[in-house]
Amino acid sequence: MDSGLLRVQLSVNGQRHALALEPRRVLLDVLRDDLGLTGAKKVCDMGNCGACTVLVDGRPMYSCLMLALDWREAAITTIEGLGEPGQLDPVQQAFITADAYQCGFCTPGQIMSVKGLLDTTPEPTDAQIMRALSGNLCRCGAYGNIMRAARIAAGRDPGTDETGSDTA
Ligand code: FES
Ligand code: FES
Repeated sequence: MDSGLLRVQLSVNGQRHALALEPRRVLLDVLRDDLGLTGAKKVCDMGNCGACTVLVDGRPMYSCLMLALDWREAAITTIEGLGEPGQLDPVQQAFITADAYQCGFCTPGQIMSVKGLLDTTPEPTDAQIMRALSGNLCRCGAYGNIMRAARIAAGRDPGTDETGSDTA
């Protein structure tokens, strides 16, 4: 194209999207600005915080560091592709059960990292959970409940409060 735009198709949440993109565009911006998928957040925009984490062929990756053009053949999953109200993914439900957020800004990235872990390691140890979440910062310091959410999603915590009531 003379305009400097390239025609590409991206596969996001099981749907093919035809786009005309400048080669310099990063995946996070394309998801948010072109496709309206604003679940992945732009915080540091330089690979430090994990708020922009999406799954690429099942692997959690920082979408702020990825040129969109490089991922034409990949299956990209954002938080919007996991579940929806009334039909949440078990990882999303576990974060609600464990009250694993305060402002919620880091939460989509945290959930995608846990999802990526459990898809490959269904029964992770605490060390494996901590390693999987080591690239996701939470400025609110909700780490204790985030760990508990991951354990609940992994079936290692029943998701009940101290009285034995189901907190879901
Ligand atoms: S916005 Fe991508 S790592 Fe912080
Ligand atoms: S819940 Fe606020 S940054 Fe994590």
